Amino acid sequence: MTKYEQAASLLSAAGQTQVLRFFDQLSDKEQAALLDQVLDLDLSCLSALKNADPESRRGVISPLTAMQLPEIKARKSEFFEKGVSAIRNGEVAAVLLAGGMGTRLGSDAPKGMYDIGVTRPVFIFERLIENLLDVVRETGTMIPLVIMTSEKNDAATRAFLTEHAFFGYDPARVTFFVQDMAPCTDFDGRILLETPSRVATSPNGNGGWFSSMLRQGIVRALAAEGVKWLNVFAVDNVLQRIADPVFIGAVLDSGCASGSKVVRKACRDEKTGVMCLEDGRPSVIEYTEMSDELLDAKDENGDPAYNFGVILNYLFNMEELIRVADEDLSLHIARKKIPCIDDAGNKVDPKEPNGLKFELFILDLVKKLPGCLPFEVERAREFAPIKNRTGVDSVESARELCRLNGIEL
Ligand code: UTP
Repeated sequence: MTKYEQAASLLSAAGQTQVLRFFDQLSDKEQAALLDQVLDLDLSCLSALKNADPESRRGVISPLTAMQLPEIKARKSEFFEKGVSAIRNGEVAAVLLAGGMGTRLGSDAPKGMYDIGVTRPVFIFERLIENLLDVVRETGTMIPLVIMTSEKNDAATRAFLTEHAFFGYDPARVTFFVQDMAPCTDFDGRILLETPSRVATSPNGNGGWFSSMLRQGIVRALAAEGVKWLNVFAVDNVLQRIADPVFIGAVLDSGCASGSKVVRKACRDEKTGVMCLEDGRPSVIEYTEMSDELLDAKDENGDPAYNFGVILNYLFNMEELIRVADEDLSLHIARKKIPCIDDAGNKVDPKEPNGLKFELFILDLVKKLPGCLPFEVERAREFAPIKNRTGVDSVESARELCRLNGIEL
């Protein structure tokens, strides 16, 4: 079978023959590129779309409390010693999830390149690397740093970090990988074209990191170096502690296969996933799934029963991740604005959502693993996410939080 025949038969089986509708008008090079892209596409999201039944996904939800600040304070040195020793033994790597589109921030560049400085340039990547360097200095160990990018921002991210000499990190300890992409569709599940020779795709969410890392041989390389634990974190929290020895020590001590840094929710309706038990196992429930009943539930002290929000800073045992790597994560389907071309080949730059994007979420990994320690951190010291330009979780609020923590910008 020729590549064209393979692609055509794949698309026909999936009811997606419209993808090749401009094929005859393309140059040889464009034809080859489109066929390669089609043969590489993960079409599993399309069947998920057909079978989507979000209501039936959740098990029975009940409260799960966190290890809280007073206990952590009382056992700090014990946890610290354990964490430092794991880091010094080379058992911990840090994984930065930087493949997102950062659409809410409204910059075309990778989010980590955003300058949050006031009197001098201070880039988000710089802040994160400075935070990690604190632990490098404390432990005398250059922790392996793995950076996930996407097709859309890989080249810009690498060029930027190289140009800035990795803000003092040892480039030999930094590994990049590109996350997988998922096709975008219209509301009827028909794959959209970005150009006549290119399928519209988007990064497959922050939950695809481990499968991409595994397929690209990075997990094998880390395991060969003796890495056992991965501290996975988001690009946008400029105050977070990365490879925090106290957190690592507490998770190791707990015997759990994972840990999640959590903060007390700022208010009842804060848009954050919260830790809970699902059918008796630690899990994370998204804010969109929180019913009034769950939001109003109280514990025995009269405090909100679901009060510990995740901040996308997790520690995962790598062997356990490998063990569950074949199990599917739930696919999340979102209505988004997707630049594309119409049936006549004209460019469409939508002002309203015009199609669907498919994403995997890291929070769905938690319930796959045996045990998760929710580990409370102080919001004002460790949580300054930058999602928007102004207002809640913005450049403005993060600047203020940095100032309160004595970080000069
Ligand atoms: P968000 O869910 O805030 O998404 O990402 P985003 O793409 O950065 O921003 P918006 O929603 O478009 O405004 C949380 C973390 O997950 C990473 C992001 O880079 C960020 O660190 N992420 C998200 C990925 O690495 N890949 C993805 O496909 C999505």
